Amino acid sequence: MSSQPRHFTDLSLVSAEDLRRILDDAKVRKAAQKAGTAEQPFAGKVLAMIFDKPSTRTRVSFDVAMRQLGGSTIMLTGAEMQLGRSESIGDTARVLSRYVDAIMIRTTAHERMTELAENATVPVINGLTDDTHPCQIMADVMTFEEHRGAVKDRTIAWSGDGNNVLHSLIEGSARFGFKLNMAVPEGSEPEQRYVDWARKNGGRLTVGHSPEEAVAGADAVVTDCWVSMNQEHRARGHNVFLPFQVNADLMAKAKSDALFMHCLPAHRGEEVTDEVIDGPNSVVFDEAENRLHAQKAVLAWCLSGAV
Ligand code: CP
Ligand code: NVA
Repeated sequence: MSSQPRHFTDLSLVSAEDLRRILDDAKVRKAAQKAGTAEQPFAGKVLAMIFDKPSTRTRVSFDVAMRQLGGSTIMLTGAEMQLGRSESIGDTARVLSRYVDAIMIRTTAHERMTELAENATVPVINGLTDDTHPCQIMADVMTFEEHRGAVKDRTIAWSGDGNNVLHSLIEGSARFGFKLNMAVPEGSEPEQRYVDWARKNGGRLTVGHSPEEAVAGADAVVTDCWVSMNQEHRARGHNVFLPFQVNADLMAKAKSDALFMHCLPAHRGEEVTDEVIDGPNSVVFDEAENRLHAQKAVLAWCLSGAV
C-alpha cells in the first residue's frame, strides 16, 4: 500500500466524478450479485472494523460486502482494544496498518476518525461519526436513482434534527447536484460550516423551520431520529420535534409520488408514522440493502482504485 491511501472519510473530500464512478460501479456489482456472476477480487484482503457505537446495518453490510468480495473482516470495539486503555489513535492506526488492508470506523468525535486516517497507511472508511455518515448518503442516492432516475436537479426535503446524516446529505447535495430544502427546529440547525461548504461548491440549499415549506414540490422526504447516538445532550423533548414528524399529512404536501427515506433505525410514532414508513412510497429497506452494494464499490475504490 502506498503512503497515500484512498480514504473515504467525507463526501466533501472525494470528487464528484469519483463519487459518481463509485455509484456506477455499485450498480454493476449489485446486478452481478443478483445474477450470481459477481467476482471476488479481494481474496486474502482483510477489513478491520472498529465500533465505538452500536450498529446493525453498517456492521452487517460491511461484513457481507467483504465476504462477497472474497475477503474477510475483523470486528473490534474500542473498549476491547488497548485504545480503550489510552493507547493513542495514531499508534492504533500505525499498528492496524501493518495487519489489515483497510479500516472502517464508527465512532464519536469526528476527529477520532480523521486522526485514524491521518496516521493509517491503509484506507480508512467513515462508518459514522458524531458529525457525518457518508456511506449512508451513497446508499440513499443509489436508492433514489433506482426508483426515480437521476437525482441531479431533483428536490430532496429533510424534516427533523440537524444531525450527522443531514451533514452528509448537505455535502451530497453539492456533489450530486440535487436541491435540498431543510426544516429543523430552532436550535437544532445543521452546523453552518457544512451549509457554507455546499453553497461554495454549487449546492442549492434552504434551511428553515417549516416542514410544509420544505416538502413542497419535493421528490423525496427524508428524516432521522430525534436524538442521535452520543448526542443525548442535544435532546430537545418530543414537543419540539413533533411538528417535524413525517406523517401522511406532511407527505401529502410533497409531490404525489415523493419517496420516503430514512437511514434506520426508525422510531415509529416519533419522527415517522407507521403509515408512512410502511406505505407504498417508502424505500427504507432498499436504502438498507444498498448500503451493501454501495459499500462494495467504496471498498473497491479504496482498495484497488479499480472504480
Ligand atoms: N443506518 C445505519 O447506519 O444503521 P446502523 O446504525 O444499524 O449501522
Ligand atoms: N443520526 C443517527 C444515525 C444512525 C444510523 C445516529 O447518529 O444515531
